Amino acid sequence: MTELDLLLMGPPGAGKGTQGRLLGEALGVPWVSSGDLLRHAVEDGSALGEEARGFMSRGDLVPDRVIVGLMSRRLQEPDARGGFIADGYPRTVPQADALAAALDALGRRLTAALAILLPDDEVVDRLSGRRTCPRCGRVYHVEHEPPVRAEHCDADGACLIQREDDSAETIRRRVAVYHKDSEPLIAYYGERGLLREVDGIGPPEVVAERLHAAAASSA
Ligand code: AP5
Repeated sequence: MTELDLLLMGPPGAGKGTQGRLLGEALGVPWVSSGDLLRHAVEDGSALGEEARGFMSRGDLVPDRVIVGLMSRRLQEPDARGGFIADGYPRTVPQADALAAALDALGRRLTAALAILLPDDEVVDRLSGRRTCPRCGRVYHVEHEPPVRAEHCDADGACLIQREDDSAETIRRRVAVYHKDSEPLIAYYGERGLLREVDGIGPPEVVAERLHAAAASSA
């Protein structure tokens, strides 16, 4: 069996979470968000969460050693044996090297790195209008993807929240960190023939079709 091991990359707010959920359902593999794993660790009050909290609220990356261990363990769980969609991981070149080594040890190889492209001004608009369900993690946008009942999740009725790191100052910091630390991965995966770039502008269903086509052509 050939596993479908996919990465979803792109700047903050590019739509990785929105698309990861759709793509995971369409392809039948788990969508694994590094940001969600870290937020759960923070909520649980674990030592790892305590260490990650300050970095996340400032808009900085958590240290590589923290996220590499967390994601490596998650991607080896039974539900990911047939493949996975890793959203937000890797985000630095050392993380990409660690992922390649972990897959190699399992006799697996990355299928493709799907990069969602979005200009910075669109990133700010999307993140400042984002609302998230604290119960099921579903994301909305006050203008582009509003819930049916204002400020409540369509799926479970919970009151939507605004993420702490979606303040104007922290969004600016996250975008700067993306350009400095994560954008080099575009060249990294390009050189390895694994990069598939997808335009992130357009309705979510249209972006989903582009990503699905890019994933299918890589399988
Ligand atoms: P993480 O949670 O991964 O944040 P991020 O990368 O900044 O991405 P976001 O979750 O903000 O956005 P998204 O691309 O998922 O967009 P979404 O679908 O929500 O990470 C948070 C923090 O954790 C990091 O800052 C860092 O501290 C730490 N961390 C995580 N991974 C790490 C790693 N590997 N190494 C070190 N540290 C790590 O969409 C955004 C909005 O746009 C929503 O409102 C949505 O409704 C709307 N929208 C989506 N698609 C469209 C569309 N097509 N048109 C219009 N609106 C749209």
